[in-house]
Amino acid sequence: MTTILGIETSCDDTAAAVVHDGRVPRSNVVSSQLDLHAQYGGVFPEVASRAHAESISAVVNRAMDEAGMDYEQLDAIAVTQGPGLIGSLLVGINFAKGLALATGAPLLGINHLEGHVYSLLLEPKSADIDFPVVVLIVSGGHSELLLMTSHGEYRRLGGTIDDAAGEAFDKVGRLLGLPFPGGPAIERTAQNGDAKAYRFPIAQTNSPYDFSFSGLKTAVLREVTVQPSGRGQRRRLRGAEKRAQLRDDINIADVAAAFQDAVTEALTRATIRAARHYHCSEILLSGGVSANQTLRHKMREESRLPVRYPPLALCTDNAAMIAAAAHYRFLAGHRSGLDFEARSSWRLSEETYAE
Ligand code: KG4
Ligand code: ZN
Repeated sequence: MTTILGIETSCDDTAAAVVHDGRVPRSNVVSSQLDLHAQYGGVFPEVASRAHAESISAVVNRAMDEAGMDYEQLDAIAVTQGPGLIGSLLVGINFAKGLALATGAPLLGINHLEGHVYSLLLEPKSADIDFPVVVLIVSGGHSELLLMTSHGEYRRLGGTIDDAAGEAFDKVGRLLGLPFPGGPAIERTAQNGDAKAYRFPIAQTNSPYDFSFSGLKTAVLREVTVQPSGRGQRRRLRGAEKRAQLRDDINIADVAAAFQDAVTEALTRATIRAARHYHCSEILLSGGVSANQTLRHKMREESRLPVRYPPLALCTDNAAMIAAAAHYRFLAGHRSGLDFEARSSWRLSEETYAE
Protein backbone atom coordinates (compact mmCIF):
# COMPACT_ATOMS: atom_id res chain seq x y z
CA MET A 1 0.00 0.00 0.00
CA THR A 2 1.18 3.54 -0.67
CA THR A 3 0.26 6.68 1.24
CA ILE A 4 1.05 9.80 -0.74
CA LEU A 5 0.61 13.48 0.07
CA GLY A 6 -0.31 15.47 -3.04
CA ILE A 7 0.09 19.23 -3.41
CA GLU A 8 -1.41 21.27 -6.27
CA THR A 9 -0.95 25.00 -6.89
CA SER A 10 -0.76 25.26 -10.69
CA CYS A 11 -3.55 27.79 -11.15
CA ASP A 12 -6.01 29.38 -8.74
CA ASP A 13 -6.73 26.59 -6.24
CA THR A 14 -4.42 25.80 -3.33
CA ALA A 15 -4.92 22.09 -2.70
CA ALA A 16 -3.48 19.22 -0.66
CA ALA A 17 -4.67 15.64 -0.21
CA VAL A 18 -3.57 12.33 1.22
CA VAL A 19 -4.39 9.29 -0.94
CA HIS A 20 -4.00 5.56 -0.29
CA ASP A 21 -3.01 3.37 -3.24
CA GLY A 22 -3.96 5.97 -5.83
CA ARG A 23 -7.61 5.14 -5.15
CA VAL A 24 -8.79 6.17 -1.74
CA PRO A 25 -8.62 9.83 -0.72
CA ARG A 26 -8.13 10.07 3.05
CA SER A 27 -8.42 13.86 2.80
CA ASN A 28 -8.89 16.30 -0.05
CA VAL A 29 -8.59 19.98 0.84
CA VAL A 30 -9.15 22.64 -1.83
CA SER A 31 -8.91 26.31 -0.94
CA SER A 32 -10.48 28.17 -3.84
CA GLN A 33 -9.43 31.68 -4.81
CA LEU A 34 -12.57 32.15 -6.89
CA ASP A 35 -13.79 35.16 -4.91
CA LEU A 36 -10.45 36.90 -5.42
CA HIS A 37 -10.45 36.41 -9.19
CA ALA A 38 -14.16 36.83 -9.96
CA GLN A 39 -13.78 40.61 -10.03
CA TYR A 40 -11.22 40.30 -12.88
CA GLY A 41 -13.36 37.79 -14.83
CA GLY A 42 -10.34 35.47 -14.98
CA VAL A 43 -7.28 34.34 -13.04
CA PHE A 44 -4.83 37.11 -12.21
CA PRO A 45 -1.35 35.47 -11.86
CA GLU A 46 0.15 37.87 -9.29
CA VAL A 47 -2.90 37.60 -7.06
CA ALA A 48 -2.88 33.79 -7.44
CA SER A 49 0.72 33.23 -6.33
CA ARG A 50 0.37 35.54 -3.35
CA ALA A 51 -2.81 33.75 -2.24
CA HIS A 52 -1.09 30.36 -2.61
CA ALA A 53 1.79 31.56 -0.43
CA GLU A 54 -0.65 32.72 2.24
CA SER A 55 -2.64 29.50 2.44
CA ILE A 56 -0.32 26.62 1.46
CA SER A 57 0.88 25.83 4.95
CA ALA A 58 -2.61 25.75 6.46
CA VAL A 59 -3.99 23.70 3.55
CA VAL A 60 -1.28 21.03 3.82
CA ASN A 61 -1.62 20.86 7.62
CA ARG A 62 -5.35 20.41 7.28
CA ALA A 63 -4.96 17.63 4.71
CA MET A 64 -2.58 15.79 7.07
CA ASP A 65 -4.87 16.34 10.09
CA GLU A 66 -8.02 15.23 8.30
CA ALA A 67 -6.25 12.09 7.10
CA GLY A 68 -5.00 11.49 10.66
CA MET A 69 -1.45 11.13 9.34
CA ASP A 70 2.03 11.94 10.57
CA TYR A 71 4.73 12.82 8.06
CA GLU A 72 6.66 9.63 8.94
CA GLN A 73 3.76 7.60 7.56
CA LEU A 74 4.07 9.06 4.06
CA ASP A 75 5.67 6.98 1.31
CA ALA A 76 6.11 10.04 -0.89
CA ILE A 77 5.29 13.70 -1.40
CA ALA A 78 3.93 14.58 -4.84
CA VAL A 79 3.58 18.08 -6.24
CA THR A 80 2.39 19.53 -9.53
CA GLN A 81 5.51 20.43 -11.54
CA GLY A 82 3.59 21.89 -14.50
CA PRO A 83 2.00 22.96 -16.73
CA GLY A 84 0.64 26.10 -15.09
CA LEU A 85 1.43 29.60 -13.90
CA ILE A 86 5.11 29.69 -12.91
CA GLY A 87 4.62 31.88 -9.83
CA SER A 88 1.83 29.61 -8.60
CA LEU A 89 3.66 26.35 -9.34
CA LEU A 90 6.73 27.56 -7.47
CA VAL A 91 4.81 28.04 -4.23
CA GLY A 92 3.72 24.38 -4.18
CA ILE A 93 7.05 23.05 -5.44
CA ASN A 94 9.15 24.95 -2.90
CA PHE A 95 6.83 23.93 -0.09
CA ALA A 96 7.01 20.28 -1.17
CA LYS A 97 10.81 20.42 -1.45
CA GLY A 98 11.03 21.84 2.06
CA LEU A 99 8.80 19.07 3.41
CA ALA A 100 10.79 16.39 1.56
CA LEU A 101 14.03 17.76 2.94
CA ALA A 102 12.69 17.91 6.48
CA THR A 103 11.00 14.49 6.48
CA GLY A 104 13.26 12.52 4.14
CA ALA A 105 10.23 11.38 2.11
CA PRO A 106 10.83 10.83 -1.63
CA LEU A 107 9.60 13.66 -3.85
CA LEU A 108 7.76 13.36 -7.16
CA GLY A 109 7.08 16.21 -9.59
CA ILE A 110 3.84 15.37 -11.40
CA ASN A 111 2.32 16.57 -14.66
CA HIS A 112 -0.99 18.30 -13.89
CA LEU A 113 -2.65 16.73 -16.94
CA GLU A 114 -1.63 13.26 -15.78
CA GLY A 115 -3.33 14.21 -12.52
CA HIS A 116 -6.55 14.87 -14.42
CA VAL A 117 -6.26 11.42 -16.02
CA TYR A 118 -5.87 9.70 -12.64
CA SER A 119 -8.77 11.61 -11.09
CA LEU A 120 -10.76 8.92 -12.91
CA LEU A 121 -9.51 6.20 -10.60
CA LEU A 122 -10.19 8.05 -7.36
CA GLU A 123 -12.97 5.82 -6.21
CA PRO A 124 -12.21 2.84 -4.02
CA LYS A 125 -14.16 0.46 -6.25
CA SER A 126 -13.18 1.77 -9.68
CA ALA A 127 -11.89 -0.93 -11.99
CA ASP A 128 -8.43 -0.61 -13.49
CA ILE A 129 -8.28 0.97 -16.94
CA ASP A 130 -8.90 -1.39 -19.84
CA PHE A 131 -6.12 -0.24 -22.22
CA PRO A 132 -5.91 1.10 -24.88
CA VAL A 133 -8.21 4.00 -24.10
CA VAL A 134 -8.78 7.42 -25.55
CA VAL A 135 -8.56 10.24 -23.02
CA LEU A 136 -10.13 13.65 -23.50
CA ILE A 137 -8.76 16.22 -21.05
CA VAL A 138 -10.81 19.40 -21.20
CA SER A 139 -10.14 22.22 -18.75
CA GLY A 140 -9.67 25.97 -18.64
CA GLY A 141 -6.10 25.78 -19.89
CA HIS A 142 -6.03 22.56 -21.91
CA SER A 143 -8.00 20.51 -24.41
CA GLU A 144 -6.07 17.40 -25.35
CA LEU A 145 -6.99 14.12 -26.99
CA LEU A 146 -4.65 11.30 -26.02
CA LEU A 147 -4.21 7.63 -26.66
CA MET A 148 -3.23 5.89 -23.43
CA THR A 149 -1.76 2.44 -23.91
CA SER A 150 -0.77 1.60 -20.33
CA HIS A 151 -0.15 3.41 -17.05
CA GLY A 152 1.97 6.47 -17.78
CA GLU A 153 2.13 5.84 -21.56
CA TYR A 154 0.50 8.50 -23.71
CA ARG A 155 0.46 9.50 -27.32
CA ARG A 156 -1.00 12.86 -28.22
CA LEU A 157 -3.56 12.50 -31.01
CA GLY A 158 -4.77 16.07 -31.16
CA GLY A 159 -6.39 18.87 -29.25
CA THR A 160 -7.47 22.44 -29.60
CA ILE A 161 -5.72 24.60 -32.18
CA ASP A 162 -6.79 27.80 -30.42
CA ASP A 163 -8.87 28.22 -27.24
CA ALA A 164 -9.21 25.45 -24.66
CA ALA A 165 -12.81 24.26 -24.26
CA GLY A 166 -13.10 25.72 -20.74
CA GLU A 167 -11.59 28.97 -21.94
CA ALA A 168 -14.28 29.15 -24.66
CA PHE A 169 -16.96 28.59 -22.00
CA ASP A 170 -15.38 31.30 -19.84
CA LYS A 171 -15.13 33.84 -22.70
CA VAL A 172 -18.67 33.29 -23.95
CA GLY A 173 -19.94 33.38 -20.35
CA ARG A 174 -18.32 36.78 -19.92
CA LEU A 175 -19.81 37.96 -23.20
CA LEU A 176 -23.28 36.91 -22.05
CA GLY A 177 -22.80 38.71 -18.74
CA LEU A 178 -22.70 35.47 -16.72
CA PRO A 179 -20.51 35.03 -13.62
CA PHE A 180 -16.99 33.54 -13.76
CA PRO A 181 -16.21 30.70 -14.35
CA GLY A 182 -18.38 30.56 -17.46
CA GLY A 183 -18.66 26.75 -17.72
CA PRO A 184 -20.97 26.02 -14.79
CA ALA A 185 -22.85 29.30 -15.40
CA ILE A 186 -23.52 28.44 -19.05
CA GLU A 187 -24.57 24.92 -18.14
CA ARG A 188 -27.06 26.28 -15.57
CA THR A 189 -28.41 28.93 -17.92
CA ALA A 190 -28.71 26.46 -20.81
CA GLN A 191 -31.10 24.28 -18.80
CA ASN A 192 -33.91 26.69 -19.70
CA GLY A 193 -32.81 27.15 -23.28
CA ASP A 194 -33.42 25.58 -26.67
CA ALA A 195 -30.17 24.41 -28.30
CA LYS A 196 -31.85 24.50 -31.71
CA ALA A 197 -32.85 28.14 -31.53
CA TYR A 198 -29.45 29.13 -32.93
CA ARG A 199 -27.12 27.29 -35.23
CA PHE A 200 -23.46 27.84 -34.43
CA PRO A 201 -20.67 26.39 -36.59
CA ILE A 202 -18.53 23.38 -35.70
CA ALA A 203 -15.12 24.17 -37.15
CA GLN A 204 -13.42 21.78 -39.55
CA THR A 205 -9.75 21.23 -38.75
CA ASN A 206 -6.97 19.64 -40.79
CA SER A 207 -6.63 16.74 -38.38
CA PRO A 208 -9.73 14.69 -37.46
CA TYR A 209 -8.59 14.75 -33.82
CA ASP A 210 -8.19 18.50 -33.49
CA PHE A 211 -10.86 21.02 -32.57
CA SER A 212 -11.16 24.78 -32.77
CA PHE A 213 -13.35 27.13 -30.75
CA SER A 214 -12.34 30.64 -31.73
CA GLY A 215 -14.66 30.75 -34.78
CA LEU A 216 -17.51 29.58 -32.60
CA LYS A 217 -16.80 32.31 -30.07
CA THR A 218 -16.81 34.93 -32.86
CA ALA A 219 -20.09 33.53 -34.22
CA VAL A 220 -21.67 33.94 -30.78
CA LEU A 221 -20.26 37.46 -30.51
CA ARG A 222 -21.78 38.41 -33.90
CA GLU A 223 -25.12 36.89 -33.01
CA VAL A 224 -25.62 38.51 -29.64
CA THR A 225 -24.05 41.96 -29.94
CA VAL A 226 -25.26 45.10 -31.59
CA GLN A 227 -23.41 45.21 -34.91
CA PRO A 228 -22.14 48.67 -35.83
CA SER A 229 -22.34 49.58 -39.49
CA GLY A 230 -19.13 51.48 -40.53
CA ARG A 231 -15.84 49.59 -41.09
CA GLY A 232 -13.95 51.55 -38.45
CA GLN A 233 -16.54 50.74 -35.82
CA ARG A 234 -16.53 47.09 -36.72
CA ARG A 235 -12.77 46.91 -36.28
CA ARG A 236 -13.04 48.47 -32.88
CA LEU A 237 -15.65 45.92 -31.76
CA ARG A 238 -13.34 43.00 -32.51
CA GLY A 239 -10.82 43.96 -29.86
CA ALA A 240 -13.46 44.99 -27.43
CA GLU A 241 -15.49 41.88 -26.62
CA LYS A 242 -15.81 42.98 -23.04
CA ARG A 243 -17.45 46.26 -23.96
CA ALA A 244 -19.65 44.83 -26.72
CA GLN A 245 -23.29 45.73 -26.27
CA LEU A 246 -25.78 42.85 -26.05
CA ARG A 247 -28.85 42.99 -28.27
CA ASP A 248 -32.13 43.37 -26.34
CA ASP A 249 -33.95 40.66 -28.28
CA ILE A 250 -31.44 37.93 -27.44
CA ASN A 251 -32.53 34.91 -25.43
CA ILE A 252 -29.46 34.21 -23.30
CA ALA A 253 -30.64 30.72 -22.32
CA ASP A 254 -31.04 29.71 -25.99
CA VAL A 255 -27.61 31.10 -26.90
CA ALA A 256 -26.02 29.29 -23.94
CA ALA A 257 -27.70 26.02 -24.93
CA ALA A 258 -26.73 26.31 -28.61
CA PHE A 259 -23.13 27.23 -27.75
CA GLN A 260 -22.82 24.36 -25.26
CA ASP A 261 -24.26 22.02 -27.87
CA ALA A 262 -21.68 23.08 -30.48
CA VAL A 263 -18.68 22.75 -28.12
CA THR A 264 -19.71 19.36 -26.78
CA GLU A 265 -20.56 18.07 -30.27
CA ALA A 266 -17.09 19.00 -31.56
CA LEU A 267 -15.43 17.27 -28.59
CA THR A 268 -17.62 14.19 -28.89
CA ARG A 269 -17.06 13.72 -32.62
CA ALA A 270 -13.25 13.91 -32.38
CA THR A 271 -13.13 11.62 -29.34
CA ILE A 272 -15.34 8.94 -30.84
CA ARG A 273 -13.47 9.08 -34.14
CA ALA A 274 -10.19 8.48 -32.27
CA ALA A 275 -11.64 5.69 -30.13
CA ARG A 276 -12.84 3.86 -33.27
CA HIS A 277 -9.65 4.35 -35.21
CA TYR A 278 -7.41 3.11 -32.39
CA HIS A 279 -9.74 0.26 -31.35
CA CYS A 280 -10.04 1.57 -27.82
CA SER A 281 -11.88 -0.26 -25.05
CA GLU A 282 -13.02 2.81 -23.15
CA ILE A 283 -13.43 6.58 -23.40
CA LEU A 284 -12.06 8.59 -20.48
CA LEU A 285 -13.15 12.20 -19.86
CA SER A 286 -11.48 14.47 -17.34
CA GLY A 287 -10.77 18.11 -16.48
CA GLY A 288 -13.16 20.87 -15.44
CA VAL A 289 -15.34 20.65 -18.56
CA SER A 290 -15.92 16.92 -17.99
CA ALA A 291 -18.33 18.03 -15.26
CA ASN A 292 -20.64 19.14 -18.07
CA GLN A 293 -23.70 16.89 -18.26
CA THR A 294 -24.35 17.55 -21.95
CA LEU A 295 -20.81 16.40 -22.78
CA ARG A 296 -21.22 13.26 -20.67
CA HIS A 297 -24.62 12.55 -22.17
CA LYS A 298 -23.54 13.04 -25.80
CA MET A 299 -20.48 10.86 -25.30
CA ARG A 300 -22.61 8.05 -23.85
CA GLU A 301 -25.34 8.40 -26.50
CA GLU A 302 -23.01 8.50 -29.47
CA SER A 303 -20.55 5.79 -28.49
CA ARG A 304 -21.03 2.13 -27.77
CA LEU A 305 -17.93 2.07 -25.58
CA PRO A 306 -17.99 2.52 -21.81
CA VAL A 307 -17.46 6.19 -20.93
CA ARG A 308 -15.78 7.12 -17.64
CA TYR A 309 -15.62 10.49 -15.96
CA PRO A 310 -14.48 11.53 -12.50
CA PRO A 311 -16.82 12.18 -9.57
CA LEU A 312 -18.12 15.76 -10.01
CA ALA A 313 -16.05 17.19 -7.18
CA LEU A 314 -12.85 15.82 -8.72
CA CYS A 315 -13.34 17.18 -12.26
CA THR A 316 -11.84 20.55 -11.38
CA ASP A 317 -8.37 21.04 -9.93
CA ASN A 318 -7.54 19.16 -6.73
CA ALA A 319 -4.53 17.51 -5.12
CA ALA A 320 -5.99 14.00 -4.73
CA MET A 321 -5.51 13.55 -8.46
CA ILE A 322 -1.84 14.53 -8.17
CA ALA A 323 -1.31 11.97 -5.39
CA ALA A 324 -3.22 9.37 -7.47
CA ALA A 325 -0.99 9.90 -10.52
CA ALA A 326 2.07 9.81 -8.25
CA HIS A 327 1.09 6.35 -6.97
CA TYR A 328 1.75 4.82 -10.42
CA ARG A 329 4.92 6.87 -10.93
CA PHE A 330 6.12 5.79 -7.48
CA LEU A 331 5.50 2.10 -8.22
CA ALA A 332 7.37 2.51 -11.52
CA GLY A 333 10.40 3.74 -9.56
CA HIS A 334 10.14 7.37 -10.59
CA ARG A 335 11.67 9.95 -8.18
CA SER A 336 12.47 13.64 -8.65
CA GLY A 337 15.58 15.21 -7.12
CA LEU A 338 15.32 18.27 -4.90
CA ASP A 339 16.52 20.42 -7.81
CA PHE A 340 13.69 19.92 -10.34
CA GLU A 341 12.19 23.02 -11.88
CA ALA A 342 8.66 24.22 -12.56
CA ARG A 343 7.50 23.81 -16.17
CA SER A 344 4.99 26.35 -17.44
CA SER A 345 4.18 24.26 -20.51
CA TRP A 346 4.49 20.50 -20.53
CA ARG A 347 2.64 18.22 -22.88
CA LEU A 348 1.58 14.77 -21.84
CA SER A 349 3.23 12.46 -24.37
CA GLU A 350 5.79 9.71 -24.70
CA GLU A 351 8.57 12.00 -23.54
CA THR A 352 6.74 13.34 -20.50
CA TYR A 353 9.11 11.95 -17.90
CA ALA A 354 12.16 11.37 -20.10
CA GLU A 355 15.35 12.75 -18.61
O1 KG4 B 1 -9.62 21.63 -14.55
P1 KG4 B 1 -9.96 23.01 -14.13
O2 KG4 B 1 -10.45 23.23 -12.74
O3 KG4 B 1 -8.75 23.97 -14.26
C1 KG4 B 1 -7.78 23.92 -15.24
O4 KG4 B 1 -6.86 23.07 -15.13
O5 KG4 B 1 -7.93 24.74 -16.17
O6 KG4 B 1 -11.03 23.55 -15.19
C2 KG4 B 1 -11.65 24.79 -15.07
C3 KG4 B 1 -12.49 25.01 -16.32
C4 KG4 B 1 -13.09 26.42 -16.41
O7 KG4 B 1 -12.82 26.96 -17.69
C5 KG4 B 1 -14.58 26.17 -16.22
O8 KG4 B 1 -15.39 27.10 -16.91
C6 KG4 B 1 -14.74 24.77 -16.78
O9 KG4 B 1 -13.58 24.09 -16.38
N1 KG4 B 1 -15.93 24.10 -16.22
C7 KG4 B 1 -17.01 23.73 -16.96
C8 KG4 B 1 -17.94 23.16 -16.05
N2 KG4 B 1 -17.39 23.20 -14.78
C9 KG4 B 1 -16.15 23.77 -14.92
N3 KG4 B 1 -17.25 23.84 -18.27
C10 KG4 B 1 -18.45 23.39 -18.72
N4 KG4 B 1 -19.40 22.85 -17.90
C11 KG4 B 1 -19.19 22.71 -16.58
N5 KG4 B 1 -20.13 22.19 -15.79
ZN1 ZN C 1 -6.66 21.37 -14.30
